[in-house]
Amino acid sequence: MTTNSQRYHITTFGCQMNKADSERMAGVLEEMGFDFTEDPNDANVILYNTCTIRDNAEQKVYSYLGRQAKRKQKEPNLTIIVAGCVAQQEGETLLSRVPEIDLVMGPQHANRLQDLLEQVFQGNQIVATEPIEIIEDITKPRRDSEVTAWVNVIYGCNERCTYCVVPNVRGIEQSRRPEAIREEIEELSRLGYKEITLLGQNIDAYGRDLPGSSPGGRNLYNFTDLLYFIHDVPGIERIRFATSHPRYFTERLIRACAELPKICEHFHIPFQSGDNQLLKAMARGYTQEKYRQIIHTIREYMPDASISADAIVGFPGETDEQFENTMKLVDDIGFDLLNTAAYSPRPGTPAALWENQLSDEIKADRLQQLNRLVSVKAAERSQRYLGRIEEVLVEGTNSKDTSQVMGRTRGNRLTFFSGNLAELKGQQVKVKITQVRPFSLTGEPVELCIPV
Ligand code: SAH
Ligand code: SF4
Ligand code: F3S
Repeated sequence: MTTNSQRYHITTFGCQMNKADSERMAGVLEEMGFDFTEDPNDANVILYNTCTIRDNAEQKVYSYLGRQAKRKQKEPNLTIIVAGCVAQQEGETLLSRVPEIDLVMGPQHANRLQDLLEQVFQGNQIVATEPIEIIEDITKPRRDSEVTAWVNVIYGCNERCTYCVVPNVRGIEQSRRPEAIREEIEELSRLGYKEITLLGQNIDAYGRDLPGSSPGGRNLYNFTDLLYFIHDVPGIERIRFATSHPRYFTERLIRACAELPKICEHFHIPFQSGDNQLLKAMARGYTQEKYRQIIHTIREYMPDASISADAIVGFPGETDEQFENTMKLVDDIGFDLLNTAAYSPRPGTPAALWENQLSDEIKADRLQQLNRLVSVKAAERSQRYLGRIEEVLVEGTNSKDTSQVMGRTRGNRLTFFSGNLAELKGQQVKVKITQVRPFSLTGEPVELCIPV
């Protein structure tokens, strides 16, 4: 059915899980003989990998889809695929809303793309949203970077935060076997990758669904064990992970990060709110005191660690005082980066049905106040880099100044310096930081690092 003249395009919305899924689906399409095209209007197969975390993310998908549906009326051979979280949430409804769609597939079905597409090419319209056990990835992802790579360790989420659609759309937790994860990392190392980011919606839940035992007769039940198990893969120089949940974040994990040299001193630990009553209403399972304690312990072990997080303003019933508690937490902790969002009621979540919803004006106003504080604090945090020598792993060029290369510090600050990408790509360079901005740095190269 497919020939080399067939082209595919993927647009990815949403989080790192979706990005990782898109890379695997791109791998499947390449195996099937399709070539990637940047331009959706030039593609025979269009795949939208969608996000539904907030209403605006979902609406964006419909406007993209509308354009391609129109195109299909003129080019009936165009294949339109909607994958990811909107696909899972809407299922059949998507087909009645946009009948031009050929395939609706939830996130758990990403690795089945070839099988599903073959059914489409036989003339079927397919909806694949039933819960399944995720099959091990047997394809070769087409990864966007040649230096850094995502590695899924656990799919799904068993939490029930009252605002969140993720458990509905990503299904129950499914941990990959430690051996499969290690094999993937070894393969990445053979391909020349230098940095990996281990992924899970709630990565601290890793292992709790795994049966029995594993290598060396030891029970590998948690994420800290996994870090020890994969840390020594030769060639991999940096290890990151996301997302951490304060409810399960342990001192043992913090100790492991301090002890294992490849693990970068950057922690992404969303707190969502600085108010205990709201945290309870969100069903987060910790208090703001516990959150502060975690950050305190991290900084005891790793004084320079970067901390990033997510926060929501305007959750149902949030009072001025409760919002001030979030502001106070942000002021006290000093985040290196904070992703902020106004609460958006989502279908199928408990909080969406509560009557104490706030107006859009209040939400927008609070979001603006919080964002202002976030940049001030991030600028303060950036100051500590001025004049310091930082290790930067070079990933690409600075899109605004192509005489400069771009990479990240261990703390995950974006850093630019003059250099030639062809020579430096994948290298760790010691860079003296000469300019700081809230979320990025500029410096001068000092010398190449000796790999660990
Ligand atoms: N698993 C991660 C977060 C996944 S969703 C965790 O537990 O923290 C990414 C972020 O989107 C969340 O941290 C939250 O800040 C935000 N988010 C989720 N649902 C939202 C909603 N209904 N409205 C606004 N923001 C939301
Ligand atoms: Fe959503 Fe909570 Fe799961 Fe994070 S832990 S994905 S916020 S339900
Ligand atoms: Fe969005 Fe799905 Fe990720 S809803 S944030 S793409 S898990």
